[in-house]
Amino acid sequence: MRIRHKPWAKPELDACPFCIKYPENNKGNWGNSFPQNQPIHIELGCGKGGFISSAVTKYPNINFIAIDIKNEMLAMARRKIDQQLSENNLSADNIKIFIKNIAQIDTCFDSNDAVERIYINFCNPWPKQKHKKHRLTHQRLLEKYKVFLQPMGEIWFKTDDDNLFNESLGYFEKAKFEIKYRTFDLHSSNFFENIETEHERMFKEIGKTIKFLIAVNK
Ligand SMILES: C[S@@+](CC[C@H](N)C(=O)[O-])C[C@H]1O[C@@H](n2cnc3c(N)ncnc32)[C@H](O)[C@@H]1O
Repeated sequence: MRIRHKPWAKPELDACPFCIKYPENNKGNWGNSFPQNQPIHIELGCGKGGFISSAVTKYPNINFIAIDIKNEMLAMARRKIDQQLSENNLSADNIKIFIKNIAQIDTCFDSNDAVERIYINFCNPWPKQKHKKHRLTHQRLLEKYKVFLQPMGEIWFKTDDDNLFNESLGYFEKAKFEIKYRTFDLHSSNFFENIETEHERMFKEIGKTIKFLIAVNK
């Protein structure tokens, strides 16, 4: 997705106390970077932050980390997080954000981080065969996530894209995840823990059904 340059994005991220400039320095030690010792959930490709800003305020007993490759996206997410926290009179104790290409996620986390859950919301579908390896659900990335996801840790994945969803089921199987829950129509399903994202709202408005699964690290 093309996004217009925002001159304020980098300065705001640089000044943000919960934006981590050198996430590699926290590798294996993310638990200690939060004031409270509580489970860690990560969102990969957080975009404009609709999901993470709601999650952070709804679940103060979880430590969240949101990652995106683009300054502009992360800076919009930062604004949303700040706004939600101040509206709810909460501190930023349970949130960290940083810029990273997820392809290099293994430079930032290891098995000591014992992450409880990863969220992948509406990642780019990369429909062309030669680009599929860039999908955030591709087997080569699932293998990297397995290293820092705790045993029985989960990946929650949702998308509007049928091909991406069906092929991702294959990636999860090859990477030896067990599919604990799946639905081809999240909004008509019996799953009620959903937090809507910006892309989800957009697709819902044009009548697309949302596919969702929970994969367990066996
Ligand atoms: C289609 S948007 C979805 C945003 C949000 N999750 C939502 O559901 O509204 C995909 C997001 O993933 C980010 N992204 C794409 N490839 C990435 C990568 N390799 N590493 C980190 N972020 C990436 C993009 O910058 C963008 O913000």
